Amino acid sequence: MTDLLEVRNIGKRYGNVLALRDVSMAVRSGEVTCVLGDNGAGKSTLIKILSGVVQPDEGQLLIAGRPVALAGPRDALDRGIATVFQDLAMIPLLSITRNFFLGNEPTKGSWPLRRFDRRTAARITREQLAQMGIALRDPSQPVGTLSGGERQSVAIARAVYFGAKVLILDEPTSALAIKQAGVVLRYIIRAREQGTGVVFITHNPHHAYPVGDQFVILNRGRPVGNYPRSGISREELIQAMSGGHDLEELSHELELLSGHRPATSALQGSPPSAGPD
Ligand SMILES: Nc1ncnc2c1ncn2[C@@H]1O[C@H](COP(=O)(O)OP(=O)(O)O)[C@@H](O)[C@H]1O
Ligand SMILES: [Mg+2]
Repeated sequence: MTDLLEVRNIGKRYGNVLALRDVSMAVRSGEVTCVLGDNGAGKSTLIKILSGVVQPDEGQLLIAGRPVALAGPRDALDRGIATVFQDLAMIPLLSITRNFFLGNEPTKGSWPLRRFDRRTAARITREQLAQMGIALRDPSQPVGTLSGGERQSVAIARAVYFGAKVLILDEPTSALAIKQAGVVLRYIIRAREQGTGVVFITHNPHHAYPVGDQFVILNRGRPVGNYPRSGISREELIQAMSGGHDLEELSHELELLSGHRPATSALQGSPPSAGPD
């Protein structure tokens, strides 16, 4: 099967900062590709390249096996690559329906009497969200009344509805409480079940492991590893992601500071972080 999207030996510099170097990965239909790494690892730079926001300095981007240069985000979207950025681009005071269609509203009647088809829009919104497992009481309620997790879900449902073949999610769970993160992880699985190729960016291996088919780990812009799920255990992923060495160092440092021995295993086994990035 041809990969939906692939990067080969991608590199990007910002002045003196090497944001990415020699990164390769593939996105396949019905799979979740997780991109993991700490702050500054180059995760956002990578997805900006995949979504046409930033041009790489080096390497190749291929869509369905063909090398392409994306002219911009609109070009990427036209080719079926949808990105849900961290700030979501939703308007809190507008209804869920309006946010769902933002700029693609169904209309009825013909010019000059053409107007927003509120009924159809509300029905589609309700149906699409139901398919993602969200039962809406009222699609006309403002998006601002939804929880963070539900808002992410609306953004995901919207992208899937408008035909995303590749869905890129930049840290969709990092600002959420544990329960809400679970909601979003469930929608990631739904999107995958519908055949979408999902790119899930996170710094949290506890969020990535349950849903990922493939794990790409970055550290300061460099690839640390690229593992299929069958090739890595949860513990190994946590280890590879935090860097066993860094963790030992931190442990030692804390030891010196506090004058007693902290349990490294407690650090490794910490629950999904609920705090913002
Ligand atoms: N527009 C930019 N100008 C200069 N440096 C940038 C820019 N965007 C990112 N960087 C730098 O590139 C590196 C990777 O950043 P980023 O891709 O945002 O990492 P992540 O999303 O994993 O935290 C960081 O050192 C960051 O400071
Ligand atoms: Mg980032």
